[in-house]
Amino acid sequence: MEIFHLHRLFLVLVFVLGLGLPCFRAFGLLPVRSTYIVHLDKSQMPAHFQNPTEWHDHTLNAISVSPDQKIYSYETVTDGFAARLTAAEASQVHDLHGVIGVLPELRYKLSTTRTPEFLGLDKISALLPESDSVSKVVVGVLDSGVWPESKSFDDTGLGPVPSGWRGQCESGPAPRGFLDMDKPTNFTCNRKLIGARFFSEGYEAAIGPIDVSKESKSPRDDDGHGTHTASTAAGSAVEGASLFGYAPGTARGMATRARVAVYKVCWLGGCFGSDILAAMEKAVDDGVNVLSLSLDGGNKTHFYHDSVAIGAFAAVEKGIFVSCPAGNAGPRPYSLSNMAPWIATVGAGTLDRDFPAYVTLGNGKNFSGVSLYSWNFKGTLLPFVYAGNVSNATNGNLCMKGTLDPAKVKGKIVLCDRGVNDRVQKGSVVKLAGGAGMVLANTAADGEDLVVDAHLLPTTAVGEKSGDAIKSYLFSDSNPTATILFEGTKVGIQPSPVVAAFSSRGPNSITPAILKPDMIAPGVNILAGWTGAIGPTGFAVDDRRVAFNIISGTSMSCPHVSGLAALLKAAHPDWSPAAIKSALMTTAYVAYKNGGKLQDVATGKDSTPYDHGAGHVDPVSALSPGLVYDLTVDDYLDFLCGLNFTSSQIKNVALLARTKNHHCDPSKSYSLYDLNYPSFAASFDSTSGRPTTIKYTRTLTNVGAATGTYKASASSDSAALKIAVVPDSLSFSKAGEKKSFTVTVTGSAMPASTNAFGQLEWSDGKQTVRSPMAFSWT
Ligand SMILES: *[C@@H]1O[C@H](CO)[C@@H](O)[C@H](O)[C@H]1NC(C)=O
Ligand SMILES: *[C@@H]1O[C@H](CO)[C@@H](O)[C@H](O)[C@H]1NC(C)=O
Ligand SMILES: *[C@@H]1O[C@H](CO)[C@@H](O)[C@H](O)[C@H]1NC(C)=O
Ligand SMILES: *[C@@H]1O[C@H](CO)[C@@H](O)[C@H](O)[C@H]1NC(C)=O
Ligand SMILES: *[C@@H]1O[C@H](CO)[C@@H](O)[C@H](O)[C@H]1NC(C)=O
Ligand SMILES: *[C@@H]1O[C@H](CO)[C@@H](O)[C@H](O)[C@H]1NC(C)=O
Repeated sequence: MEIFHLHRLFLVLVFVLGLGLPCFRAFGLLPVRSTYIVHLDKSQMPAHFQNPTEWHDHTLNAISVSPDQKIYSYETVTDGFAARLTAAEASQVHDLHGVIGVLPELRYKLSTTRTPEFLGLDKISALLPESDSVSKVVVGVLDSGVWPESKSFDDTGLGPVPSGWRGQCESGPAPRGFLDMDKPTNFTCNRKLIGARFFSEGYEAAIGPIDVSKESKSPRDDDGHGTHTASTAAGSAVEGASLFGYAPGTARGMATRARVAVYKVCWLGGCFGSDILAAMEKAVDDGVNVLSLSLDGGNKTHFYHDSVAIGAFAAVEKGIFVSCPAGNAGPRPYSLSNMAPWIATVGAGTLDRDFPAYVTLGNGKNFSGVSLYSWNFKGTLLPFVYAGNVSNATNGNLCMKGTLDPAKVKGKIVLCDRGVNDRVQKGSVVKLAGGAGMVLANTAADGEDLVVDAHLLPTTAVGEKSGDAIKSYLFSDSNPTATILFEGTKVGIQPSPVVAAFSSRGPNSITPAILKPDMIAPGVNILAGWTGAIGPTGFAVDDRRVAFNIISGTSMSCPHVSGLAALLKAAHPDWSPAAIKSALMTTAYVAYKNGGKLQDVATGKDSTPYDHGAGHVDPVSALSPGLVYDLTVDDYLDFLCGLNFTSSQIKNVALLARTKNHHCDPSKSYSLYDLNYPSFAASFDSTSGRPTTIKYTRTLTNVGAATGTYKASASSDSAALKIAVVPDSLSFSKAGEKKSFTVTVTGSAMPASTNAFGQLEWSDGKQTVRSPMAFSWT
């Protein structure tokens, strides 16, 4: 088994530079310990050990490491343990009996009133009469914890917790040092929030003890992110919700009657792989049906090194649907996270809701922006300055801490450029310098992508074009003035959805044969529950407390899909995670009602499958997809064989491969293109100079009417692609019946960086089963 030196070096650097540990550690005066996850093959456990834990401790003893260095033992989603080891000890461990892999722990980061109507969920009740079946579904959320007092977790009308639920409600001392200290008492669960646990050992081993004056060592959410994601997935309906009057209405999660179980793995200093794996173990053991993880480990993390992918494999094997964000690193290509095919990878789109706030200039010109800060300037034109002109700092235009000259800012509206530092922090800097308001202008890096924040002073955010026009006024007028007009909440914005610029984009950098993201869901300006521990901006200086907050990210789109998966699970308890994902994907839409194609904010043009995957989710259609592309965990093992993973790497990803003592069959050819995925992708070699042909084999399972004949139609947007489907007609005569077909795609010789797209539709005249196709020449 290989040790991944680069990652280890990176971890050490994170330690020293990022966490400010004493420098002498870096120079070897003391051994630097960091957390490794040691994967073991239990079938090789010597018989004289009573239980795996004893074996784990013995393994550490064998390299003269005290079992005190062990953080967790794992038995459900992997076999093995997490321990604090030096680099030398880590390489010794991997030579020991039964050890499959020794991998440095990774660090992960945390990447609604209107959404139910926007998604058509107000119509779903007719289609989903047995709402009781939803109350049997448990959505597990791994995040920053939960604020249990949030009304989104009110359990009115819910029956007893589902039988067989094995979760717990771990209490912990109430947090200290928060403003609203009368309220939060001990952490309690109810019939809505049926479980809550926290996992801090890996974090504390890496970072040091949790400072309970800053965050609570309990499942309580001191950040807000976890309360937001959990309430988005399955929050109860709360009437009269809003943020400062913005986005008013009834806030509700996607599956209002599903139960929520929260696993806190993210702390002020981040989320660590050993805690995530331990939380996934518990969630699987507790009996969740859906797992929602709004976390990402970046675009470089291969499956065998990724605790989320490893835990998800075991969860999927147990029939648990796992949903993760695509990441917020868009619009750059190859910016995706969470690319494993057994995970649902969700990008972000906008809603049809906006929060307009206009900048009117002294010359009478008027530019539209967005804002969540309601303020009435009564049309008064105030002196207006460019931050770059009222600062001595080289990057004065960015409104970094301490860079604005109060004498030149007081009482004025200040234009700050977006980028580098936090958007809300820029406003805080203007406010501290005595500014009256801020115009936050996008530069080329963000284009026309507008994201609202609960700023600390009257602010409007404008796109690049408006920002440039406003700046040319600022630079040419001798006495520039401006005012901001806040217009509240507007719904019915068209076109919507559009792909958010920040949403991470394909191609898939690990396995180009699998198109990612899988789909998009609402992730821009989403209203959902919030923590009572901190204000809506998350800044310590923000002493406002809100029950709901509006935030954006693929972290927000992921729990939308988790909640929808809970509804589908309730409607179709026998569907596998892959069938649920297929239903969501093949019924997703890629065009507006007027026929126009889904747009991308980043380009202002049509979006592609690298931006939106199969398209935007349409839950009502997903309830009856007609046909599904189903998959078993054995298919994923074949896929890993197709990736030429070593036996150890496969066993590292999949506990199943250990229990079955799985080996790839050298006489068999494993094609990545035969994974029965609901989309089609590949990368062509641009240097080959001749056409390349790829053959995909797929199988459809009839989950619709007992009998029917589906006809194929394939199309592409490029003469460089030729697509043939054989047979082009599939007749089904009973429910559950499976039929196979092949798709042959020939890509002409094209220069590198060419992309071409297509789609395959199977239709019986009523149901359309649509798959996207995406090809890139590299
Ligand atoms: C919280 O729990 C602690 C210990 O479990 C207990 O002593 C205390 O009385 C509880 N406080 C409230 C307000 O319930
Ligand atoms: C991953 O993202 C980095 C920037 O964060 C980028 O430079 C790199 O090209 C991406 N990786 C791949 C494999 O494309
Ligand atoms: C600015 O323009 C918008 C629409 O373009 C309009 O609704 C608004 O009233 C205008 N504001 C002013 C102050 O002219
Ligand atoms: C303000 O800054 C801009 C851009 O840096 C510059 O072009 C302009 O001359 C400055 N104006 C003043 C009055 O300094
Ligand atoms: C900026 O420069 C001026 C003089 O050029 C000086 O008076 C002022 O203190 C400087 N401000 C900051 C924030 O350094
Ligand atoms: C796996 O190895 C085979 C044989 O060397 C090769 O043809 C194939 O391209 C490899 N697949 C991948 C995904 O690297």
